[in-house]
Amino acid sequence: IICDTDAEVGRVAAAAVAQSARAKQARGGDPVLGLATGSSPLSIYAELARMVGAGELDLSRARGFALDEYVGLPPGHEQSYAEVIRRTVTEPLGMDPALVAVPDGAASDLTEAAQRYEAAIVAAGGIDVQILGIGGNGHIGFNEPGSSLASRTRIKTLAPRTRADNTRFFASADEVPVHCLTQGLGTIMDARRAVLVAQGEQKAAAIAAMVEGPVAAYCPASVLQFHNAAIVVIDPAAASRL
Ligand code: GLP
Repeated sequence: IICDTDAEVGRVAAAAVAQSARAKQARGGDPVLGLATGSSPLSIYAELARMVGAGELDLSRARGFALDEYVGLPPGHEQSYAEVIRRTVTEPLGMDPALVAVPDGAASDLTEAAQRYEAAIVAAGGIDVQILGIGGNGHIGFNEPGSSLASRTRIKTLAPRTRADNTRFFASADEVPVHCLTQGLGTIMDARRAVLVAQGEQKAAAIAAMVEGPVAAYCPASVLQFHNAAIVVIDPAAASRL
């Protein structure tokens, strides 16, 4: 879906998320949302917050699972995804912090933390709708090019381009973490619905590779071609190489 503006991207994507949430509630369940960080989904969260504020949507009992987290940042670091999710999602959307999980990038045993995260998603009944951005290199979550298309939550090394792209959030390039925990591509594919958003020319090549290229690990987002309920909502600049 190609929208004229970022605000429209947010409205269209948020409508899809809200529809999944309401459908789950209509069946007597509590929605399970997959949450992305980054700038791309901010317009979705703004629109969802508006819906919650207007009484059109209630996420107070919804569960949330973040896609990923840096390894090695001290707890409470303002760029840790636990903090970013709290600031940009949990609080504005009126979610219960006790029901929102982020992989534990400060765990002493990261492999065990990754397995625990997978188990928590399964215990919650799986993710109903996964919100996604896309990296300029085609990553989703932090599944960098070369990631196994069937991967589960695990430790990954960030690609040099990802570290460079994210340097803007840190005081210097050296402070950008080298490792992360991320849901795998297999984990993301298990979500019942996926809503990916992208804005701007810097995402155009990744969007073209994802949508029109081969399904291949060099563009991890391309695995979504196999998802039976994925939508891609983008602005004209991100669509410019389609
Ligand atoms: C980040 C995140 C991804 C995000 C992507 C794009 O590093 N791990 O989940 O989708 O890179 O970020 P942005 O939306 O700020 O361009």
